[in-house]
Amino acid sequence: MVAQIISGNEVAKSIRAEIKNEVVQLKKVGIEPGLVVIIVGEDPASQVYVRKKGEACDELGFCSETVRLPASTTEEELLRLVDKYNKDKKFDGILVQLPLPKHISEEKVLMRIDPGKDVDGFHPVNVGKMVVGSADCYLPCTPHGVQELLIRSGNDPAGKHVVVLGRSNIVGKPVACILVQKAKGADATVTICHSRTKNLAEITRQADILIAAIGSPNFVKADMVRDGVVVIDVGVNRINDPTAKGGTRLVGDVDFEAVSKKAKAITPVPGGVGPMTITMLMKNTLHAAKIHHNYKG
Ligand code: GUN
Repeated sequence: MVAQIISGNEVAKSIRAEIKNEVVQLKKVGIEPGLVVIIVGEDPASQVYVRKKGEACDELGFCSETVRLPASTTEEELLRLVDKYNKDKKFDGILVQLPLPKHISEEKVLMRIDPGKDVDGFHPVNVGKMVVGSADCYLPCTPHGVQELLIRSGNDPAGKHVVVLGRSNIVGKPVACILVQKAKGADATVTICHSRTKNLAEITRQADILIAAIGSPNFVKADMVRDGVVVIDVGVNRINDPTAKGGTRLVGDVDFEAVSKKAKAITPVPGGVGPMTITMLMKNTLHAAKIHHNYKG
């Protein structure tokens, strides 16, 4: 079987074009979506993500600010900064890049963000709304991006058995929650597997759609999937490869080479889920701007 390669780059491009058009309309009535991104410390992967978020804002015509703070920043200082941006009407969305240094409580900081500006969808108010399937909430960007990829690539999850590998708060749990919802683009039967799951391959072989989000390079092998599976690989793992430029390269959680031979459709790494995450962040920020300005267009 020749697998359909689900291009996150292509899907993200078309969503970004839609957003760009909407921003043109908003600017005609004096509305400019605004996003502030706060990063604490020097984590290299976080630095790359934050830079890409700023670039996406520039590309789509959003107003943006990136606040870079030293790793020595105190929790109190960060909380006060969040308070400041909660009040600042120029910014519709606030994103605090995770992980934070160990001495700062992520929970405390995320809870301090105004839920109406929580474009990451991590505040307990938005998490609660997601769980009950409320229309009016910010869905977390990567899980929402996974759902969009499935829908826009013609792989509607309705009635399908979705197996999720991983139970993180950022991907595994929310993606399961979104896809099990009684709603268009969802309605799946969902199983969540994790590091303590017994007979893992027996379960993954039952998947119509397999979503891998465990952060373990090439973990999913060909004998763990059935013929015709749809695979969404959320993993971003940097591995050593002397033949690659710089001596390292990015791979997903799925052994793409082997699994793609059995799959009906599969996302590559890079160029699969990655570009969708920032695109959904932009979509959430656009949505926030419309709500804050009571824009009905
Ligand atoms: N770190 C890894 N993924 C994310 C994300 O989606 N949002 C934030 N704020 N931090 C992250």
